[in-house]
Amino acid sequence: MKPVGYYKDREQTYLKHFFLERYLETVAYHIGYSQKEFVYVDCFSGPWRAEDEELGDTSIRIALDRLNSVRNGLAQRQKYPSIRAIFVEKSPSVFATLKQVLQEHRGDVKTTALAGSFEDNVDRIVDQVGSTFAFIFVDPTGWSGFAMDNLRPILQRAKGEVMINFMYDFINRFLTFQNAANEESLDRCFGTREWRSIRDNPDREPALVNLYVEQVRTAGCFPYATFSRILKPLHDRAYFHLVYATRSAKGIEQFREVEKKVVTEQQSVRQKAQREHRERKSGQAEIDFGADVQSPGFRHEREQQLRKADARLTALLEEGPVGYEVLQPRVLELPLVWNTDLNEMLVNGLRSGRLGIQGLGPRERTPKAGCTIRLKTRTLS
Ligand SMILES: C[S@@+](CC[C@H](N)C(=O)[O-])C[C@H]1O[C@@H](n2cnc3c(N)ncnc32)[C@H](O)[C@@H]1O
Repeated sequence: MKPVGYYKDREQTYLKHFFLERYLETVAYHIGYSQKEFVYVDCFSGPWRAEDEELGDTSIRIALDRLNSVRNGLAQRQKYPSIRAIFVEKSPSVFATLKQVLQEHRGDVKTTALAGSFEDNVDRIVDQVGSTFAFIFVDPTGWSGFAMDNLRPILQRAKGEVMINFMYDFINRFLTFQNAANEESLDRCFGTREWRSIRDNPDREPALVNLYVEQVRTAGCFPYATFSRILKPLHDRAYFHLVYATRSAKGIEQFREVEKKVVTEQQSVRQKAQREHRERKSGQAEIDFGADVQSPGFRHEREQQLRKADARLTALLEEGPVGYEVLQPRVLELPLVWNTDLNEMLVNGLRSGRLGIQGLGPRERTPKAGCTIRLKTRTLS
């Protein structure tokens, strides 16, 4: 993908592409290594607002380049899965550009372009994906066009996972706008009227995102669902959330690994955007000290999430001994809680005598799949 310089004043899109590129690479490689086929579906593909003539700053190019490199990497390991990519675009003029990009595309990834809206193409998508493992990307411009009823047949497929751009900032601005058509379209997006009760909730953001995550989880009967938050470049507020649902514990672990990289990138991209903004306003150049300092807002958020992880760990263990492979995805469903954090909590619990861990080898310190964890001393509440 292109460097952040191509994404001036839309750094959030850079971070979305950074996330997509890394997660797509991971899932395509993992599935391509063990299965004969993999398909990627971009349900709102564009190309949209590209600065690069060759569209290197669009999800289309980013995905095709990444899938080609995954294919080459797998070929070096004597694995030759069929890798396909399906793109859906509603606007006829944008679709014409999409067709052209796909025609010019060189590589072994088989591509298909579907004209028209996502809603009108749901059956075609399900049909074309067939029984292949699919990674589905839903990246709309607002909250319309991907009603939960339309998403359901895609979510319910047995093999695959989904990443949806939940446009929080946009939705939030219209949440209190009392207009019947607006409210009904939000009902369709959420697949429930429950969002209405969140309007006056002081913790509106987590309440709204969690409602959407749970709706996706239920619609697709996913055992695991979560999200990652992308901030506005200039303000400590959410722009959007990438909602992710999977049937694989490994998927949750990998999603969080990618989030960890995105958080570091986000830190540096936002500090640069904020410095440039101040310079534009003051007309004075500032010294660039680099971007290795975490913002107080981020530090606070992560501390809160780690406390939640500790509470979730305790709640799970209070039910009785639990296998590491059961515990891990449930804890890592919490945003900003990474596998290293979980392992540290377990090792500290073992050292303090609060936890027992069965299945560790004599020289092993880090718990892993196959270990069973139990609570030895109960915490007083
Ligand atoms: C946010 S842009 C996509 C950006 C692209 N995924 C990227 O990251 O480069 C949304 C795209 O979806 C198209 N679109 C809007 N409504 C749609 C719908 N109901 N179905 C399919 N495409 C739609 C728009 O024309 C636009 O090109």
